Amino acid sequence: MQILDIIKKKRDGNELTAAELQFFVTEYTKGQIPDYQASALLMAIYLRGMTAKETSILADSMLHSGDVLDLSLIPGIKVDKHSTGGVGDKISIPLAPLVAAAGVKNPMISGRGLGHTGGTLDKLEAIPGFNVNLTEDDFIDQVSAIGTAIISATQDVAPADKKIYALRDTTGTVDSIPLIASSIMSKKLASGTNALVLDVKTGSGAFMQDFDDARSLAKQLLDIGQAHQTKMVALITNMNQPLGVKVGNTLEVEESIDILKGQGPEDTTKLTIELGAYMLVLAEQAKDIQTARTILQEKIADGSALAKFKELVEAEGGDVRVVDNYQLMPHAKNQIVVTALDDGYVNAIDTNDLGMLVVYLGGGRLKKTDKIDPGVGLVIHKKVGDYVHRGEPLVTVHANSFDDDQVQSSIHQAYHLSAVQPPAEELIYEIME
Ligand code: URA
Repeated sequence: MQILDIIKKKRDGNELTAAELQFFVTEYTKGQIPDYQASALLMAIYLRGMTAKETSILADSMLHSGDVLDLSLIPGIKVDKHSTGGVGDKISIPLAPLVAAAGVKNPMISGRGLGHTGGTLDKLEAIPGFNVNLTEDDFIDQVSAIGTAIISATQDVAPADKKIYALRDTTGTVDSIPLIASSIMSKKLASGTNALVLDVKTGSGAFMQDFDDARSLAKQLLDIGQAHQTKMVALITNMNQPLGVKVGNTLEVEESIDILKGQGPEDTTKLTIELGAYMLVLAEQAKDIQTARTILQEKIADGSALAKFKELVEAEGGDVRVVDNYQLMPHAKNQIVVTALDDGYVNAIDTNDLGMLVVYLGGGRLKKTDKIDPGVGLVIHKKVGDYVHRGEPLVTVHANSFDDDQVQSSIHQAYHLSAVQPPAEELIYEIME
């Protein structure tokens, strides 16, 4: 079998066989197919799409490209959550300790920044000492001991996803339904979880900008889960504006801790509780969603969720003092306050562009080998529906090296003001099971 034939077959819009997809995944993972040929195939998949059958085979091949963890030594139902990615989406960080504080066993294998979106692992690494590279045994021991661990897939867990994900990030092939579905499900199923709550994002800061695309991504994810006897729920949620008020690695850890202290913004706090509530129900730790919400609210109010976060940070080698002193995390040298040029309501925000601004300033990667600058980011002062007076701050940009004119114009171009107040944005559009 030749990779060149497989590339041409997909380029011409034909369906690939199981043997061809398995060949690509196995040989690319082993380093036998060079990046330029893998990129060409990914671009052909991006442009031509895949059938549901191809997507499911691709997910399966990636899942079996490495170890499939056996978490049966950990008693109880193991539940994880995964987001398709957004701007300011730091929810995994407060969510993992919150649900663990409520008795859920949460083995979380997370990703790095992708395209314009940040990644949980990059964010956690803003905490000095935090080590996301645990061995499989340490991962299992930690989930057994404290209920949660957030790690990078080891080289042995879904290694194909690790390689393909990094390549997609730098070849313009991220926002493809079959590639996203196979990426997410391969690593989630390989992590040995029994159940999964999905946060499928749609809107100007999501990979799926269109609502119907988000639904069809959710459907493909649910179908793959069902074929693997994994209980799943998908929430289709709003990504038309940054989530919360902070974007960027250190800044998002700060907001995560605020949520656990009960001092987080309304939207990120609500989404954390909603996703957590579905996790509690899937884990059979609550009889219904309303009961689950109440339990989680109590875990924030009584400090046990924050205490669990400290346990998590400590267990993974991080400096727990950051909880009380955010200055122990790296911050950018400069803060540029960008103010409104006119009066008006914030009608829309080009959220993707805000995410890309953070990437360009060093908070994400343009090349696989780029090093993240954790202090870079945005503090959002005005969200959709807010009224802003000319000269009032829209966003404070945290940056080390930057071009002032470019930063100002990026923010001004991303914010659309109008004389009329737009309808309120819904946070959660739909629940799919
Ligand atoms: N999250 C993933 O894990 N993979 C993708 O491809 C996109 C979002």
